[in-house]
Amino acid sequence: MNRAAPAPLDNMGRPEPRLDGRAKVTGEARYGSDFIVSDVAHAFLITSPIAKGRIASIDTSLAKRLPGVIEVFTYENTKGLKEVPFSTGGGGATQSMQSMGPEIHHDGQIVGMAVADTYEAAQEAASLVKIDYDVEKPSATFGSPGVTQEDASKASERAKGLPQAGDADAAIAAAPVKLEAEYGTPTEHHNPIELFTTTAVWRDGEVTVYEPSQFVYGQKHSVAQKLGIAGDRVRIVSPYVGGAFGSKAQFSPRTGFVVYAAKVLNRPVKLVVTRDQGFTVQTYRAETRHKIRFGAEQDGSIKGFSHEGFEVTSRPDPYTVAGVEDSARVYNYGTVKTHVTLVHADRNTPGFMRAPPVVPYIYALESAMDELAVKLGMDPVELRRKNDSMKDTTGKEWSSRSLMKCYDEAASAFGWSKREAKPGAMRDGDWLVGFGCASAIYPTHIGASAVRVRLESDGRVRVQLAAHDLGTGAYTVIGQMAAEKLGVPMVHVSVELGDSTFPAAPVAGGSNTTASCCNAVMKACDAILAKLNPPTATTGSNTGAARDIEQAFERLGVGVIEEYAEYLPPGAKPDTMAHLYHGKPFLSGGSKGEKLMYALGAEFVEVRVHRQTREIRVPRIVGAFAAGHIMNTRTARSQLMGGMIWGISSALHEETEIDKRNARYINDNLADYLVPVNADIRDLQVILVPERDTFVNPAGIKGLGELGNVGTAAAVANAVYNATGIRVRQLPIRLEKLMA
Ligand code: MOS
Repeated sequence: MNRAAPAPLDNMGRPEPRLDGRAKVTGEARYGSDFIVSDVAHAFLITSPIAKGRIASIDTSLAKRLPGVIEVFTYENTKGLKEVPFSTGGGGATQSMQSMGPEIHHDGQIVGMAVADTYEAAQEAASLVKIDYDVEKPSATFGSPGVTQEDASKASERAKGLPQAGDADAAIAAAPVKLEAEYGTPTEHHNPIELFTTTAVWRDGEVTVYEPSQFVYGQKHSVAQKLGIAGDRVRIVSPYVGGAFGSKAQFSPRTGFVVYAAKVLNRPVKLVVTRDQGFTVQTYRAETRHKIRFGAEQDGSIKGFSHEGFEVTSRPDPYTVAGVEDSARVYNYGTVKTHVTLVHADRNTPGFMRAPPVVPYIYALESAMDELAVKLGMDPVELRRKNDSMKDTTGKEWSSRSLMKCYDEAASAFGWSKREAKPGAMRDGDWLVGFGCASAIYPTHIGASAVRVRLESDGRVRVQLAAHDLGTGAYTVIGQMAAEKLGVPMVHVSVELGDSTFPAAPVAGGSNTTASCCNAVMKACDAILAKLNPPTATTGSNTGAARDIEQAFERLGVGVIEEYAEYLPPGAKPDTMAHLYHGKPFLSGGSKGEKLMYALGAEFVEVRVHRQTREIRVPRIVGAFAAGHIMNTRTARSQLMGGMIWGISSALHEETEIDKRNARYINDNLADYLVPVNADIRDLQVILVPERDTFVNPAGIKGLGELGNVGTAAAVANAVYNATGIRVRQLPIRLEKLMA
């Protein structure tokens, strides 16, 4: 193919199959704990059974007498470890509570680690360590005695300068139609199928860490900081990640303990965190609350919008997602008021999870939009159309916005026109049928990224960068960009990712990988093409085809051309790349740039609620999404499909239950923590809506990994209302909430 050919009219890339597909289905793909390390010792974590208090005494003597046990680590013999500062931008530490004691800050805190010749011995040793605690009464969540509140904008950089425009209170007060409603979302855990694992191998004062990671450069420098050594003595290897959803983007205390143990014992150490321990030694999505107020004219034009968010976090860390930053942008509301309050409890610090800011905040917004439509007696799609605008309330313009195109395509594919607005009006035998819809929105993040591309004279291409494939298709789209630019077939391209010895790439968070890395690949390939086909006086450009690769190499008298390139998105500073190499990511875009850069979509859901049992089913869901240039329609569809399934999950299934007396998670296993199974997901349709936007970046890519997960919960809730007349304002929607 000719690399100079413009993208097809619909701006859709080819549905290339996954480059890593074969390795995955044959079991060749090595995940973090699959690397074979000789003479490895096994570690098992000991976690606190109390949420607040202090370790009074520790007795390891029994554990240490067990055959095969090498050492038991506690706070008493891990004092050599340094602190890694907590940060909320990816990289950095998951939390500032990093020691094994003696203070206990949350249930399930790591208080010890047994290391033995076998996994079984380590596990048994862990159970034989006797720890006594002085117990204090913990505060679990919203409403628990002892929690403290804080204005998020004073505590966290993320929540500074949240959008405000005009006098929303006055506009709402003066509006003829008002709506006020409160919503809530529960605690949720990522539960990637691949467990959290760490294997550390020291050799000649340097350490290699095998660990599933969403950010190997961040991890590299955090490990170095933790050990108090130079960054160049640490290598992170993470070629495959078995699901992450935000839980593997930061440095967790466990990694420090394993790396430290391997050093002290002068022997490789491997840790596999158990499923239940994973609920407390990593992050989670904290519960949120929302207070929304709308003022509107009778014709549906919104005059004022106020969104107050409340988010739970730990005692010391001001983790916040502050999704009003995005909810305030979706429509032009005339006036906007936003605020976020943090509620500090005796919990571990929450973290990124599946479209962190937008999932809870857009659930609240899009539920309230539906309630407003009901109040106005208006079609919910028309209410969105009425307030659709190429400028947000603060006056900022959109780089591109295909929201109503998505609505129109999804509505027609879904058969929205058949909907009866009156709740309970649609029935099929014993089933109450409901239709609902909601907007999906996700900020387009673009990060600084470097890459090395090597073209050989036989036309084979190798691409190396420290990006990550979490199952998303990163290998494939990165390879595809190189193949398309250089005009070689995909089978000639190999891609290597997930190693901190490769050129630096961003944290795989915020759905930025495709947009960031593909632009870097484009740049490196352009440099290769410039060498292959030097600009001539007549054309003044380097657009000659790369099809004569062999000839060109002969003329140049070389065997390979290798180019290293760095892509810096707008807003990057001269030292941005140097910072990335030191583990500090940089993401621009979203609402932070000159224009609003977002991918958008619309989701339509049919629910059926059984008249008597109140069983809830989702037989149909249709999502239409616009996200600029789609690199690969197959991997894009998979991502959007997965997102919508997680959306149904948060709507109907997921909730981590908390024992409030003990601030402890109850259902910390995959039997009791509900996620959808095949029987829960029926007809699911993804529509890719063509969109062109080269303002966002030269490749015109917006990123869509998390987009499909946004809005689904509201669409389901809105459909449940249409079916039953019951408005559930606290997720998940379980059948007991529909017992009227
Ligand atoms: Mo994703 S929750 O932005 O890692």
